[in-house]
Amino acid sequence: MNDGRAVRAVYPGSFDPPTNGHLDVIERAARCFEELIVAVVVNPQKREPMFTLEEREAMIRDCVKNLANVRVEHFRGLLADYVREQRAAVIIKGLRVVSDFESEMSTALMNRALSDVDTMFLMSDQRYSFVSSSIVKEVFFLGGDVAALVPDPVMRLMAAKRATLRTT
Ligand code: PNS
Repeated sequence: MNDGRAVRAVYPGSFDPPTNGHLDVIERAARCFEELIVAVVVNPQKREPMFTLEEREAMIRDCVKNLANVRVEHFRGLLADYVREQRAAVIIKGLRVVSDFESEMSTALMNRALSDVDTMFLMSDQRYSFVSSSIVKEVFFLGGDVAALVPDPVMRLMAAKRATLRTT
């Protein structure tokens, strides 16, 4: 039954790789909405991703396999168009620290201008306030221990990727 309230939400991101902070937001959003789509962007804006689209999707699927109302998809192009195609009413974004809000606010307003979709922000657990995909990658590939910052399936794939890079 849906009386017009949001049942389906989209949590978009690059997830290159997914971190415990991402997973924390996914778990929180899955408790709030009937259905959550974790939407992996095909081509992240920032730079060439370290992990392929297939790897990023597989890592998240592995992490959310016990969350029955979460599915993992990918999208290209405008997020606002994708959200409309999925007939989702809400975009979920995680906020770690106040400075995240600055860029997120303009993005949220642009997405609302484009497709009348609202963005809801969830605070990730404060244990992850310093955790980002880029910092995890940098520390890991320089030999640092990031096991407490990423889910186990991600740790395994990162280790495999590092081994491949060393042999090539
Ligand atoms: O995990 P990220 O890299 O912070 O995620 C950024 C993402 C994928 C949410 C953002 O880059 C995005 O929405 N890309 C799709 C293109 C788009 O709609 N751009 C206009 C945003 S106002």
